[in-house]
Amino acid sequence: MQTDMQTTRVLITGGTSGLGLALVRELTGRGASVAFVARTAERVAVVAREHGAHGIVGDVAQKQDIHRIALQATGVLGGLDVLVNNASDLGPTPLALLGDTECEDFERALVTNVLGPFRLTKALLGSLAASAREGRGSVVLNISSDAAVNAYGRWGAYGASKAALAHMTRIWNEEMLAHGVKLLALDPGDMDTPMHAIAVPDADRATLKQPSAAAIELADAIADLLPAAHTVAVRRAS
Ligand SMILES: NC(=O)c1ccc[n+]([C@@H]2O[C@H](COP(=O)([O-])OP(=O)(O)OC[C@H]3O[C@@H](n4cnc5c(N)ncnc54)[C@H](OP(=O)(O)O)[C@@H]3O)[C@@H](O)[C@H]2O)c1
Repeated sequence: MQTDMQTTRVLITGGTSGLGLALVRELTGRGASVAFVARTAERVAVVAREHGAHGIVGDVAQKQDIHRIALQATGVLGGLDVLVNNASDLGPTPLALLGDTECEDFERALVTNVLGPFRLTKALLGSLAASAREGRGSVVLNISSDAAVNAYGRWGAYGASKAALAHMTRIWNEEMLAHGVKLLALDPGDMDTPMHAIAVPDADRATLKQPSAAAIELADAIADLLPAAHTVAVRRAS
């Protein structure tokens, strides 16, 4: 299924590599207005130029960056309908047993993978609820992992953070039902990305999913949660 998203306003964290970059490509390709965040300014500029998206340099693990990211995104997009919390920290690499994991490495995984999405979602909740009230639809997609449900040895910091992210997502979705903001956590599957190469250097890359394939599935999942009337209106207008 390919859906037009020509009036949809999207913010993606971690939009310069792997899945986040594939989502920038997929969603701009469907006509959405896209802003994205990453820490490396040069890569942000290149991706913004190549894909006609709005690049924001920022670190979702830094509390002081969150409100600036939220303000820049809503300012440039004129509001927000969809937030994708995709940026993530693997924890210590090479992946370590929990007993060998430094507290600071565990803390960084939690701050990037749970607290960052919590803070950014909270900062954008008013804009997202406004979109829902206006009948545009409102979706927060948090990128999870099979490590959130399977007890893989050496994936302790990352797995615990992704499990916390998934559960926070379920609770927040219940709390926001009455306001029309839908939150979901999805596992994109094992993908051929720089993060996967660092985590599993000897993986057979031919067996891994392409991030572009995962991006199509996730964009379809987002579109499914946006109001059909909105999508139809866009189709009629085009
Ligand atoms: N790859 C897989 O097989 C796999 C499997 C299951 C789930 N996932 C999940 O899929 C998502 C994407 O993973 P990926 O493999 O595509 O990762 P990736 O290739 O390493 O890309 C990560 C992106 O996030 C940005 N980023 C990292 N930390 C950031 C921070 N603190 N603030 C802002 N931006 C940050 C990076 O740019 P900068 O470094 O410049 O900031 C980059 O754009 C993650 O949530 C991951 O946990 C991946």
